[in-house]
Amino acid sequence: MFKTLSAVFLFLAIPFAAHAQPSSVSFNAATKVFRLDGGGVSYVFGVNPRGELQQLYWGARLAATDSFPQAAPLPELASFDSSYNNTPQEYAGWGAGLFAEPALKLSFADGNRDLVLHYLRHTASTNGFDVVLKDIAREIYVTLHYAIDPNSGILARSATIQNREAQPVSVEQAAAAAWGLPPAHYTLSYLTGRWAGEWTLNQEAIHPGARVIESRRGSTGHQANPWFAITAGEPSEVSEEHGEVWFGALAWSGSWRITVEQDQLDEVRVTGGFNPFDFGYVLHPGESLEAPVFYGGYSSSGLGSASRLLHLFELEHILPRTAATATQTLPKPRPVIYNSWEATEFKVTEAGQIALAEKAAALGIDRFVMDDGWFGQRKDDHAGLGDWYVNPDKFPHGLKPLIDKVHSLGMDFGLWVEPEMVNPDSDLYRKHPDWVLNFPGRPRTEQRNQLVLNLARPDVHDYVLGFLDKLLNENDIAFLKWDYNRNWAEPGWDQLPATEQKRVYVNFTRNLYAILAELRHRHPKVEIESCSGGGGRVDLGILRYVDEVWPSDNTDPFDRLTQQDGFTYAYTPQIMMAWVTDSPHWLNKRSTSLSYRMLSSMQGSLGIGANIAAWSPEDAALAKRLIAAYHQVQPTIVQGSLYRLISPRNGSEFSATQTVNEEKTQSVVFAFIHSTQEGRLFPRLKLQGLDPTAEYALSPIEGKPHTGTPSVASGAWWMNHGLNLDDSFRGDFQAAAFRLDKK
Ligand code: GLA
Repeated sequence: MFKTLSAVFLFLAIPFAAHAQPSSVSFNAATKVFRLDGGGVSYVFGVNPRGELQQLYWGARLAATDSFPQAAPLPELASFDSSYNNTPQEYAGWGAGLFAEPALKLSFADGNRDLVLHYLRHTASTNGFDVVLKDIAREIYVTLHYAIDPNSGILARSATIQNREAQPVSVEQAAAAAWGLPPAHYTLSYLTGRWAGEWTLNQEAIHPGARVIESRRGSTGHQANPWFAITAGEPSEVSEEHGEVWFGALAWSGSWRITVEQDQLDEVRVTGGFNPFDFGYVLHPGESLEAPVFYGGYSSSGLGSASRLLHLFELEHILPRTAATATQTLPKPRPVIYNSWEATEFKVTEAGQIALAEKAAALGIDRFVMDDGWFGQRKDDHAGLGDWYVNPDKFPHGLKPLIDKVHSLGMDFGLWVEPEMVNPDSDLYRKHPDWVLNFPGRPRTEQRNQLVLNLARPDVHDYVLGFLDKLLNENDIAFLKWDYNRNWAEPGWDQLPATEQKRVYVNFTRNLYAILAELRHRHPKVEIESCSGGGGRVDLGILRYVDEVWPSDNTDPFDRLTQQDGFTYAYTPQIMMAWVTDSPHWLNKRSTSLSYRMLSSMQGSLGIGANIAAWSPEDAALAKRLIAAYHQVQPTIVQGSLYRLISPRNGSEFSATQTVNEEKTQSVVFAFIHSTQEGRLFPRLKLQGLDPTAEYALSPIEGKPHTGTPSVASGAWWMNHGLNLDDSFRGDFQAAAFRLDKK
């Protein structure tokens, strides 16, 4: 159903692909070397003679017969850099003169802050290890968890920190894991953005010093996403199809930090976990702190292959299942939704929503979603958040008449909520002003006229779970769009002693996960979307509990091409919701054809968010035809192997993507023109991932191939000769799409 943390370290449920070598884990007692093999990857570390857990190898799979000598610490480099500082460790404590990023930093009650972790013992499972480290003198135990996925070779790593001292200790910094690479030239890829501008792919050479990507905001954030990829060589050598890639993604939806540093010996270390900024988690005697999970993978064949590994891993191991898909290897493709947010904003009414639902059903929509505005005194964004009763003026008979109507039209029903927020103008805030994050006597900074409820508090947790459970019990709701429309300010929790208040950074997010898990448990048919003013809360932590995400409030179909390109480096198109909205677009004032808008959105999980009441019969007919065409090929698009054939980045005149299903029986190609210049024709598209010996029939979804293009040709022909588009495919904001089906 949903994934518990222990399930994160079990990759047994999915049968590995026929071509995959089985995974294996081994520990050599003589050399004290640990080795994990899965997919095309080997990961090796060992205990050095001092007792430290030292990184040895992460890369392409080695022969089963290959062996490693015992780990040898790196020597002291003059008197300024000790052997301890130079030696790359799996999980280094801050102590003994460590100047590299520590994995763990503690303050003991007596003022001691020195922590040196040595190997104590380990246990092995079918696909991993639990390795226990202990401080050289004090009763601090750290259990490092490792599990390797047999299909993809992606590792899940985490750490549990336990205090068995007689006094409390304060955890000031705790990573999930540190990854290491030997000295070489590398390029770092990472994703940044802002509201309505998420998913910008940045690529830069790794230089000595540290590049920090992080959120201090209490949640994942639009500004940086907890994913990285490191490729061998300079930025100019980065390729979709060639070269070594090491990549990782942190599963945490609170404040996080990933530090990529090149040290004094040119070694590269990537350390990620809770953001140490303003961190301080007091562990009482006997208590433990569980770090997030940091996933890491390797590919020898370019960024395209790295993202395909990650997509499949997310589909197979991260995303939750509903009652209907509990036993299936992959989650079901997303229903095509209609959402009226851009059409009506807060002006929702029973009659208005029913009118839109009738139009939506006629287009072939599967799910009708009512957005913000249906509850409390929510006329605009100044009031109502926190009061989750149905507004009696807008819905005098409750939600039932609308939901019944939506069902009678053959769709299921979804609803917008923003459970962690409150407007000061609400009954909830008037009753419980102490429930929000705040520092007593300090201002309560509002953003979008709202404050953040302190979800870390048990009573707030119970309130949020309670109202959502009631809403789902009383109404036949298939889907929640779970929004989160601001970041933290004044993150105080004054009900706790001063030393304990910073627990909010951990407990808030843990309670969010607990509520999502409990709701899915009590309502196993319900599906959930993670939205945070667009893509502000997208990470592998929340994806264990939600079925899809809203990548951006920016629905401009041209901007979306670049956003979708960036998004797919880290996340599968299955979760990438993409609405078709009105033209000219509200943000860029750009006018585009409906066909262009439809095809842009059809590269992900399609939705319609336009004012369809104002559509012409021709628009409705076009959308209906393309929704039907999309339904036929959707599994290939959202769950197949994605090839980014031509990137839309850097002002590219053209862009194209292709997806191929697992059986290689179907492929879908999308092609977009930004603006034709000098009469240039669209480049010939050499397709990828097909079976070279199979015959594939080409059929247009929208647009035409070049005159004389064979209607049937071999995979070898489509991949080596390639697909030419018709000479008339020119102009501004043009789009075409084709499918290939194995004969
Ligand atoms: C956020 C979401 C939008 C919409 C509004 C409603 O901005 O990202 O899609 O739901 O909230 O207030």
